[in-house]
Amino acid sequence: MILSANSISKSFAKGSETITVFDNLSLEVHAGDLITIIGPSGAGKSTLLNILGTLDSPDSGTVSIHGENTNGLNDADLAAVRNTSMGFVFQFHHLLPEFTALENILIPAEISSSGKVAEAKALELLDYIGLADRKSHYPSELSGGERSRVAVIRALINDPDIVFADEPTGNLDAENAKKLIELIQMLHKDTKKAFVIATHNAEVADIGTRNCELKDRILSENDVL
Ligand SMILES: Nc1ncnc2c1ncn2[C@@H]1O[C@H](COP(=O)(O)OP(=O)(O)OP(=O)(O)O)[C@@H](O)[C@H]1O
Ligand SMILES: [Mg+2]
Repeated sequence: MILSANSISKSFAKGSETITVFDNLSLEVHAGDLITIIGPSGAGKSTLLNILGTLDSPDSGTVSIHGENTNGLNDADLAAVRNTSMGFVFQFHHLLPEFTALENILIPAEISSSGKVAEAKALELLDYIGLADRKSHYPSELSGGERSRVAVIRALINDPDIVFADEPTGNLDAENAKKLIELIQMLHKDTKKAFVIATHNAEVADIGTRNCELKDRILSENDVL
């Protein structure tokens, strides 16, 4: 098991009101899982991914990574866990505009200082998504679809065990969304990493080996047909 969330709850204060996003939610993520979480806007998908990815903490309950409860870790330890075990594709994934495609992919590797090996791997990954010849392009010189594919492989540079993707097809047209879905399926098959994908797109949700739905504060898992 890579990750387990046990009875996590999260609320936000909005003026004098409290919005409970979810309550008593539990989820286990195992190697090779491709978990999709579908839910309407505002259901709490990003909040859940942020908590599973230790970017935010639950009000109660625990998130354990490889059996270690993250509650006990300080910020530096958490950053180290994220850097070695996790990859992120954010909802508004935008690549950093002042860096080229290659440099953007290398940013997480710079943080964990894996140097030359990382560059060779970044080039390999760019080749894998058919963008080797775009390595020196800045994000503004890439199409939306190309940018999103670069953001996905950036999440893999440190060889994480688990990749979180928040609405990865959000800003894409149907054709590019299809390409991105195929890329994620291909990566899942080739790398056997765990993927947790939040989406409100039913076609994306369908690629899961485990299909979950977050609605009305509850996460439910549906049988995969
Ligand atoms: N930092 C915050 N402070 C207050 N309320 C918040 C905060 N972050 C999220 N919320 C509220 O929590 C709820 C869940 O938000 P979240 O972004 O997780 O939803 P989502 O399912 O990702 O939506 P979308 O599909 O639009 O991305 C929303 O009602 C939102 O307004
Ligand atoms: Mg969201």
